[in-house]
This record gives sequence, structure tokens and C-alpha cells, in this order.
Amino acid sequence: MSSQPFGKFNLDALRAEAYRVLQLNNRGEFTTPSPYQYPHQWNWDAAFMALGWAHFDLARARTEIRSLLRAQWRNGMVPHIIYHHGASDYFPPPEFWQTQNLAHGGDVLSSGLTQPPVLASIVRRIYERFSHDADGKNFLREIFPRILNWHRWLHTARAADGTGLPCLIHPWESGTDNSPRWLAVLDNIEPFDLPAYTRRDMTHVHPDERPRPQDYERFVFLIDRGRRVGWDDAHILREHPFLVQDVMFCAILHQADQDLLFLADALGEATNEMEEWLETTREVFNARFWHDERGLYLDYDVRAAAPIFVNTCATFAPLYAGLGSRAQAERLLQAHYDNPREYAPGDDSTYRVPSTAKTEPAYAPRRYWCGPVWMMTNWLMIHGLQRYGFHAQARELLASSLELLDGRGLREYYDPHDGAGLGGKDFAWTAGLALDLAEIAAG
Ligand code: SER
Repeated sequence: MSSQPFGKFNLDALRAEAYRVLQLNNRGEFTTPSPYQYPHQWNWDAAFMALGWAHFDLARARTEIRSLLRAQWRNGMVPHIIYHHGASDYFPPPEFWQTQNLAHGGDVLSSGLTQPPVLASIVRRIYERFSHDADGKNFLREIFPRILNWHRWLHTARAADGTGLPCLIHPWESGTDNSPRWLAVLDNIEPFDLPAYTRRDMTHVHPDERPRPQDYERFVFLIDRGRRVGWDDAHILREHPFLVQDVMFCAILHQADQDLLFLADALGEATNEMEEWLETTREVFNARFWHDERGLYLDYDVRAAAPIFVNTCATFAPLYAGLGSRAQAERLLQAHYDNPREYAPGDDSTYRVPSTAKTEPAYAPRRYWCGPVWMMTNWLMIHGLQRYGFHAQARELLASSLELLDGRGLREYYDPHDGAGLGGKDFAWTAGLALDLAEIAAG
């Protein structure tokens, strides 16, 4: 991509700011997403932070990945929150999950959930760009079996219905906690026997930018259901009140399977298991998620055996993984991405890409995953657009992203209307993503 259209951005200053934010969040063996709001290690955040660290300090990038994988459960799951330093003022505290002393659990305090498996893709990126040597290969050899086990767990222990597509048991596993696609499912769940708890997520961030009380109540209820059955996968798949298949999670896994296969090849390891996963996903993905009438990829409520009719930016994620046909990609772009009533700039928004379509009744431009722009989903979309050869659109989205990063600081998310920085400040995965985006812009 030519650097010319990005001449107005000070990429060096952006890189320096990203480094400052990574250092500010550096806790030695892991990186906090934000100094106050999230004081532990988060799974997919850690992957993007490792990518960020790799620009300055490869050893530190590897420490981030090793710390994450050290928390892997014996059943293969890599948890979503890891409490390396014990409790803090964050809710839920480690003991709330009741994950200690589980036969299939891990040796580090953690949540009982996982998060989108972007790690294999980031490891491949780091290997290809920064560590393509014997030393890089040794590191791959060390971590490869752990990532393979995680993917295997997702494709087996979490596959409920013969499609081989993993099921999520909590909105937090999608990383898009209060996305309206999940709220539609949560509305049908009536919490009971709710444990006493106090939210701590609104001390540093305004309540209007966080999930609503009724959403949070259901988040806690689902944790309680999981811990009551000792986080037993088979039990949860049978009886858990929330069981969904997430378009974006499955697309991220599909791309990660492709990247894991690449890593296996580089190491001379067998690739047949990955080839099978790739083939199965390609066979079932469109039948499960594509809704031809609406021209959208829709998430699936496994419990209700029905699509979730909510239009969010997850609909574009299959392009990142190469899962849509050319015709599907064109339709997604023309009917939705470039439609000013849904996602494109118009009277009511300036920046790409709102996390929820502006036409959705639950759209809220400042509330977490109900509308704000997130760099993670913009990054996914830029790669998707490039993959399908939509280079002008990729450049435009990159420029819109740099405008926010350059002008509004490295925040957790941004208001698509006026670009205001929202949520956590000095946000470390935004820093990691900014470094990658700056590299794309530099060409
Ligand atoms: N994102 C969640 C929170 O807000 C946890 O994964 O606390």
C-alpha cells in the first residue's frame, strides 16, 4: 500500500505513543490492557500486545505469549482473564470463578472462559516479520503444541452440534461483551439465585459507556451457572442457558487454523488435523451463518436453533478469513458497509466502522460494543478488504482509523459520530494494533 495517502499522519509520533502506552501497562511478565480499568492479563489483548512488543523488544513479546500459555488448562482451554498477581480491585476477583483445584483446570488463577483465538495468527505474523531464524523457530517449537491443544479443544470439547463450529457459553468469550447480538439472547434468560456482587467497572469509565445493569446481571448469572457445574464442558453444552456460535469467533478461528497449519509446515509437523478443521469449517460456515435474504452473516443461537437477527460489524469478519465468495463480499460492502444508514459515514456518523449497525434499535454510539468504533474490528476489516482486493476501501478505513489514533489518543473505543475517545485510557491492545496499522500505512 503506498504511503502517500497517509502523509498527513505523524506515524513516528504514533509509534512513540504506542511504546509509551505499552511500557505504562508493562507488569514484567504480562501487560495490562489499561492501567486502571483492567489490571490483569486478557487473552486476545495479550496477542495484540505481543505484536506491539515485537516492534521494540522480541524477548518481551515472547514473555507475553509464554505468560498467556502458562495459564492453559489441562483440557486445552486458554482462559480469558489470567490473574498472575492475584486479586485487585477488579470484579470478578479470581476466587469468584471457582476454577482452583479443577482436575481439568490450570496452574495459574484464571477465569473459566476463553476468548477469540487470534494467537496463532499473531505468532505467525511475529515469526514472519521479526523472528524468521533458528531462534524464532525454537520459540515456535516451544509454543506450537499448546496452541494446537487449544484449537483442538475448541473444535471438539466446545463443538455441540456436529458442525465442528465451537460454541460460546458467555458473551465475554466473544470479546464483544454487550454486543446487541448477545443482548437479544440474554433478554430471554431470567437470572435466579444470583450471587451477591458489586460492579467495579464504572469507577474509571462512565456508566453510559459500559454494559447496562441488566446485562451485567446476566453476565454474573452465567458465570454462576458455569462454576456450579465445575466448568464441565459436556454438562455446559447440555444445559447451559447461553449457547451460541459467533460468526467473528469462528472466522478468527478459521484464519488461526490456516496460520497454525503454516506454523506446522514450518516446523515439519503433521498438518492433517488442521486440514480437516479447515475443510469442515469451509463446508458448514456459509450454511450456518449466511442469511441470503438479508445479505448478512448472522450469529446463531444454538439453544434456540435459530439465527440471531441482529446486524453488527461481526458480519464482515468472514472476509478476514476468506470465507465469503466474491459475490457475498460485494454484497456485504454495497448493501451494508457502504450504506450510510448502517455503517458508512453519513449525517449521524463520521468514523468507520461502528460496531453495531446504526439501524439497530440497540445502537448506542458511546456504549461499549453497542456502537463505538474499536481498532480490533477495524484491523480485522482492513485485512478482509485487502484480501478481497478492495484496496481503495482498505486505504479509506486505514485513514479513518489513523485519524482517531493520531487525534484522540490510544483509547479503548471511539464514538463514530464525533470521534471522542471512550472507555479505558492508555489502552495497550490499541497500542499494539496502532503499530501494525502504522506499518501497513508506511507500506
Ligand atoms: N471485558 C470484560 C469486562 O469488561 C471482561 O472480559 O470486565
